[in-house]
Amino acid sequence: MSKPAKNARPAPSSAAGTRRPAGISDTATLRARARKDIEDGAITDTYSADRKAVIKLLNDALATEYVCVLRYYRHYFMAKGMLADAVKAEFLEHAQQEQAHAGKLAERIVQLGGEPDLNPDTLTARSHAEYKEGTDLRDMVRENLIAERIAIDSYREMINFVGDKDTTTKRILEEILAQEEEHADEFADLLEGWIGE
Ligand SMILES: [Fe+2]
Ligand SMILES: [Fe+2]
Repeated sequence: MSKPAKNARPAPSSAAGTRRPAGISDTATLRARARKDIEDGAITDTYSADRKAVIKLLNDALATEYVCVLRYYRHYFMAKGMLADAVKAEFLEHAQQEQAHAGKLAERIVQLGGEPDLNPDTLTARSHAEYKEGTDLRDMVRENLIAERIAIDSYREMINFVGDKDTTTKRILEEILAQEEEHADEFADLLEGWIGE
């Protein structure tokens, strides 16, 4: 049996008689589909997730992020005590990062044809995490660790729900989840090495 020549080029897929792999459309179909429902923007016929359900989940996550932004800023301004300077810097950084998460979620909601719900009247009720003021620096850190753990669980569930039906949303959620895990880890380390009250 002769070996295939090295660097042999595969036959072009458009060659007559070549079978298209399952799930891959021909050019004419792609072009025709893209012209249909053009007002849907980035959402095309092949989007297979439950769009309304995804938008709702993203809005719940958005509410959570804003409650976290507010809680971190409150803690940043109120932090007092020996360790306050170092911990304050963490609170501020996290507030800014949660704000960035909120921005990514809101952008995705709009891309999916939804509207970001930023109504402050219903924010805390819709948020997974709570707005806990904390009694002292250590308690603030503890409350933030709990809030991060809530966020981690809810993002993980959302990622499992979205699965591979909406890989862009999944990727955004995965990036946010990784940062929430970092946040939780930082606070867990802080609490473990805590000295004094
Ligand atoms: Fe976040
Ligand atoms: Fe976080």
